[in-house]
Amino acid sequence: MNQVKKTQNTFALTTPLYYVNDLPHIGSAYTTMAADVVARFQRLLGHRVLLITGTDEHGQKIQRTAESKGRSPQSFSDEMSAGFVSLWQLLNIQYDRFIRTTAPRHEVLVKEFFQRVWEAGDIYHGQQKGWYCVSCEEFKEERELLEGHRCPLHPNKEVEWRDEQNYFFRLSKYQEKLQALYESRPDFIQPESRRNEVLSFVNQGLQDFSISRVNVDWGFPVPVDPNHTLYVWFDALLGYVTALLEPDEEPTIKNALAKWWPINLHLIGKDILRFHAVYWPAMLMSAGLSLPERVFGHGFLTKDGQKMGKSLGNTLDPIGLVERYGSDAVRYYFLKEIEFGKDGDFNESRFIDVLNADLANDLGNLLNRTLGMVKKYCAGNVPTITNEDIPFEHALKAIGLPLGEQVRNAYEALAFNQACKAVLSLVKTSNKFLDEQAPWSLYKQGQQQAVEQVLYAVLESVRLAAYLLSPIIPDTSSDIYQQLGFGINFNEQIETATAAPFAIHGTWGVLTNQQKLGQARPVFKKIEPPKND
Ligand code: MSP
Repeated sequence: MNQVKKTQNTFALTTPLYYVNDLPHIGSAYTTMAADVVARFQRLLGHRVLLITGTDEHGQKIQRTAESKGRSPQSFSDEMSAGFVSLWQLLNIQYDRFIRTTAPRHEVLVKEFFQRVWEAGDIYHGQQKGWYCVSCEEFKEERELLEGHRCPLHPNKEVEWRDEQNYFFRLSKYQEKLQALYESRPDFIQPESRRNEVLSFVNQGLQDFSISRVNVDWGFPVPVDPNHTLYVWFDALLGYVTALLEPDEEPTIKNALAKWWPINLHLIGKDILRFHAVYWPAMLMSAGLSLPERVFGHGFLTKDGQKMGKSLGNTLDPIGLVERYGSDAVRYYFLKEIEFGKDGDFNESRFIDVLNADLANDLGNLLNRTLGMVKKYCAGNVPTITNEDIPFEHALKAIGLPLGEQVRNAYEALAFNQACKAVLSLVKTSNKFLDEQAPWSLYKQGQQQAVEQVLYAVLESVRLAAYLLSPIIPDTSSDIYQQLGFGINFNEQIETATAAPFAIHGTWGVLTNQQKLGQARPVFKKIEPPKND
């Protein structure tokens, strides 16, 4: 494998490329929110980041959906793809590349890749017989199916019998190489439960899979036989490579790999694990490309306990949710409440409770009341205390000092809920600390030094909390930072990376009397539960 060395300082990650058979629902938004959090965190660390997202526009599913609406697949794809772009804007996703698989230069790259695999002798012509699920765009084994030949992921749809001439990719040839990969790189597939799933699938013995279709026109023709259309997955996965090209660069694999390859992280849902953790690395091995660092498969979102999906008609409209509650609220709920990797539930009253408790009460109120006291007892200035004046065993400093490292580890492990919990514990302790220390009484007793120490420690803890949560709730964190007198907007990438690098702002004790506090205002308004009428 020719390993292309890239600099330590870059981080490239991908979301899946979404099918455009419909507008996005919250399930598709979920991976993208998580990816954006990882990207923002990596930028805080000072890395150059490339976040890739986009749409997967070929294949039978899209062809049929467009036809059923009397539309051409291209115009239908254009409309749906635009829906993803606008939702990403609403959700405050800072992506760097949006790849559409219908882009002409993508075809050039796919052809070049096909050629490499063809020359490696890994493509042959054969007969494909089996059950095909159009919704999954995948052949299913008989034993995987539910009664009545239904797909377990799309139980309202029957799979279709296919018996046709196809081109095949020689996946079986890579059985041992893949096993060696999983063995030598135990972190390649995460979390552990997904790795085990893949291991048991591969250990059963890999079969070659077909990479072309007949009777499907919506896709790229197979370079060696234009009567066949390239299988949508063989085309879509390469979108990750095309996306790496600079905007005006000539589309060659060499150019695409020059700067960002190999991808550091593919974030996907558990239903497309096999494609990313088995087929994709084998395809890359065949074409002589180095492999991605990590594939992480998250769980499914459920609503009120039921799997969310179009078949059950219980999808959640992300636009309505953002319009009602704001993007920070939506991002926070899904990342804090659901262990990334496991299935997780959406329930509106739980949603409101979590936001009110964590962001409005614990974090927002803490800032508010502390700033109120600073105004009253310290003439509206940050106390003239410095970090050195506060002993290591101080109740808040003792939690604050190791917090940055803890939260960094959690983000790196994609344990977003742990990151939030660790930060919230500092916030909760700060509220308690304020109640116990009662600076209003200290002030009455004339203990100005003690008052200032208490207020400094609490303000600094709020600052650290806002900083560490900024990848998840960038608007709220920016608001807090502004009130604390830092002219930093966490949505401005360059400004944040230079003015507030993690190495400095990720530690406790950054606030100084030099800061001129900004205008105080509530940061996260309490949400009133909707009236049931
Ligand atoms: N087009 C392929 C991916 C190609 S990547 C080269 C595809 N698209 S998809 O639109 O059907 O799904 C995209 C992602 O959305 C998948 O990771 C899938 O797991 C995720 N989700 C779809 N519904 C979901 C939930 N209800 N919950 C969480 N994520 C789910 O597959």
